[in-house]
This record gives sequence, C-alpha cells and structure tokens, in this order.
Amino acid sequence: MRRHNGLPIRVGFDEVSGEIIDLAVASGRRTVQGRSGHGIAVNGSVPGPLIRLREGQNVRLNVTNHLNEDTSIHWHGLLVPGELDGSPHQLIASGATWRPTLPIRQPAATLFYHSHAHGLTGEQVYSGLAGMLVVTDEEEQGLGLPSDYGVDDLPVLIQDRQFEDGRLVMPTGMMIASQGRRGNTILVNGAPTPRADVPNGLVRLRLVNGSNARIYELSFSDDRTFHWIGTEGGLLARSVELQAITLAPGQRAEILVSFADGQPVSLVTGQDANASMMGMMGGMGMMGGHHDDEDDASTTETVLAFSPRPGLGGRAAAPVPTLLAARTVPDPDAAVTRRRFVLNMSTEGEGMMGSDGDALTINDRSFDIGRIDEEVRLGDVEIWKVSGRKMPHPFHIHGVHFDVLRRDGDDPDVLDQGPRDTIVVKEAVELLVRFDQPATKAPFMYHCHILEHEDEGMMGQFTVA
Ligand code: C2O
Ligand code: CU
Ligand code: CU
Repeated sequence: MRRHNGLPIRVGFDEVSGEIIDLAVASGRRTVQGRSGHGIAVNGSVPGPLIRLREGQNVRLNVTNHLNEDTSIHWHGLLVPGELDGSPHQLIASGATWRPTLPIRQPAATLFYHSHAHGLTGEQVYSGLAGMLVVTDEEEQGLGLPSDYGVDDLPVLIQDRQFEDGRLVMPTGMMIASQGRRGNTILVNGAPTPRADVPNGLVRLRLVNGSNARIYELSFSDDRTFHWIGTEGGLLARSVELQAITLAPGQRAEILVSFADGQPVSLVTGQDANASMMGMMGGMGMMGGHHDDEDDASTTETVLAFSPRPGLGGRAAAPVPTLLAARTVPDPDAAVTRRRFVLNMSTEGEGMMGSDGDALTINDRSFDIGRIDEEVRLGDVEIWKVSGRKMPHPFHIHGVHFDVLRRDGDDPDVLDQGPRDTIVVKEAVELLVRFDQPATKAPFMYHCHILEHEDEGMMGQFTVA
C-alpha cells in the first residue's frame, strides 16, 4: 500500500466526468499563498475534483483509500439506494477500493460529497476530504442559464479553517463537540482570500457550505440584488430576487448575479448565526478573520472578490429566466405517518458533553450503528416534525429531497422553499418527505450537519422497504 504522505496537494477545482471515475483519497501536504498544512486530498487536490454527472447515466466510481484509517465518501443529495450512499455502512478500509455503480435519476442540482466515516467525519472533512458534484439534465440545459464551467458558471465551495502562524491547524479542545470545528479564515475552493475574474455579464454561482459548523449570511458588498434559482435538490419553480441568503453546513444554493456594471464587488458574509451561542460557551476568539473596513458595521467578512472583465465570454445582456424547473410536490394529505425528532445537546451544568456523556442526541438517543431508529415504507409520504434545542441545527436526511410545510406552526420562510435535503431547525419545522429510494441492504442516516454534532451522536438511521 502506498502512503502518499508528503505528496504535494493542489488547491483548486479540477473537473472529472465520464462513465468511469477513479477517486484516490490520500493524505499529503498543501501550500497555498505561503500557508501550509497537512491535508487529505482526492486525486491530489483539496477540495476534491468537481464530479460532473448527467441525468440518466450509470456511473461507475472506483474510490481507493490510501489513508492509514477508514474512510467513506457520501454523495450528499444524490438519490441512490442505501447501499450506494457512502454512509458509515460503506466504510472503505485502508488500502481498499469501493466500486459502486450509481444510477443518476434526478433533476439537475449542485451536490456535495464528503467523508462520512463515523467518528472521523469532522476531522476528515476539515482536512479536505470533500468536493462538489454537479448533476445536469436536458431541462436545465434548455433554460439558457450560464453554464460555461469556470467562466460564467462557478463552483463556490465555502469552508472556514484555522491558521496559526501561517500553518493550518486542526482545532481541538473541550468545546469542539458542542461548537464544531471553525476557523479564522474563509477558504473558497481551498484558497484563502480568493478572487475571481468574471465576464461583464450574468454569472451563476453554485454556492456550497462545506464548513463543519459555520453558518454564513451571504450578500454582496454593495448590497446588489441577485436571483436565487436553486436549492440542494435542484432548480426552483421560479427565480426569487434576494439581497441575502443564509447557508448552513451541507446546504447549497445556486444564484445568478449580474456583473454588467463592470464594478468590482465581493461576496461577503455576516456573523455566524451561532456566534452568540459560542460566546456563551466561551468561544476561544475564533470568530476573528479579516473584516471589511468599508463597512462600519464591521461584522462582514469577504468570502470571494470578483473582478469583472470585458471579453471574458459570458453573455452581457442575458436576461434572467424567471420560470425554471417544474416539479410535483406530494400532497400533504397523502402523508400516512408523522414522526417527531428533537435534536438536543447538554450544555455545561447539565453534565459532560461529547463522547463520555452521550450528550448529543436525537430523541434522547445517541447514534448507535447497530440500531435502526425508524422504519419507513418505500413510496410513502410522511411528515417529519423536527426541532433543535440550544442552538440552530442543520438537519439533513439521506436519500430524499423534501419540502418545508410549516415553520413554527406557520407558513415557511421564503428561504425555506424548493426541494431540500438540509434545513436549519430550532423552532419546530414540518417536512413533507416522499421516500422513493430503498434502504434495505443498508439504512439511510438523518443527522445534524454540524459534523462534530454528528460525530458525537446527533444522528439516527432508518430503513426504507
Ligand atoms: Cu452531508 Cu450524512 O451528510
Ligand atoms: Cu447526505
Ligand atoms: Cu447540531
């Protein structure tokens, strides 16, 4: 077995596609703009290459684990049966290759792949084991959306990392289990202080929050509006004009923004929605980062700076399509089962947190890989009512896309719409879910997408038969 330790890692976004895709997971050393650190790469790159898939294809993946520990790669948002999902039930041992054939049968969407080796997920993703996955289909290609990869169709994988004296460090300590691993630097596609040259026209951004724990409040530095066109599950029925959008770990959004005025502008983020909670828990000063001085609120940080340039391609005067993808939402009256989930964690004073205390739970139970928590019938429509205690938790379900029916007993927020696979819960949220993928040979997971909460037990599993 080759160890690959010390292998240099590239930063950036290669693209892979085809009927057979080989992915090699290996550790190595990366250096970006004078900053260095140890990382886990896929095909020598951090983040891993963007995997481009077509609706209708059956793609063979050969995932080889060159690490000295177990790993897995989960296709977050891909609708495939349980045994192909890349969950903790499809661990790839050190030196082994996992060879699933994935039937791609779902609308165009921006997806996310990452390690899901239970107990190691947070560490492995923080080290770099994650990447984007894009599904295209004919309907989407007929809409005239910007789709020239790297020109007017840009992958934007957002992750925060901790750098100390120019070195990437893995945050450790008592608060990790509750706060999750965070960092003082925002990386886009693996690079700190990134800048993108873009055409003077309409550009599509595929935003993915690949951070372990941080929630971003994204907007543009000049407050320009943009059009929100897609969620985790794919395109919206019609585009929505917005000035800001929230993205929690695991969530994705596709937006269209116009750079036709030729002015430089930045995508920025406000403070972490969980910042106050971190302060409360003694937050170690990790909310730092560099702040925009133009903004006296001084609570924004730059995520990605854009330099519009004429002659870069793209279409200057392209109109924003308003009608996007048609989609049938299940009838709520067709729901045959209601289930209730409460995500919870003990805080100081209520006992130990983390591995010793079994204190991160769903319905008072910590994850047990040998226990099936729920059994769902294939094809059924159900309503899952989910709430979170102590802080907002991004709740994710494998193998489905769902709709938000109600939030806190009311109509959902504007930002709740569309086909979702990850949604922030604190107040109770009712999700309308249809289970179309079987999970008999291996169960699906549902969990908090703060990866440290997941690793510490805020996860359950269900079969679909
Ligand atoms: Cu993105 Cu179960 O995970
Ligand atoms: Cu998932
Ligand atoms: Cu959580």
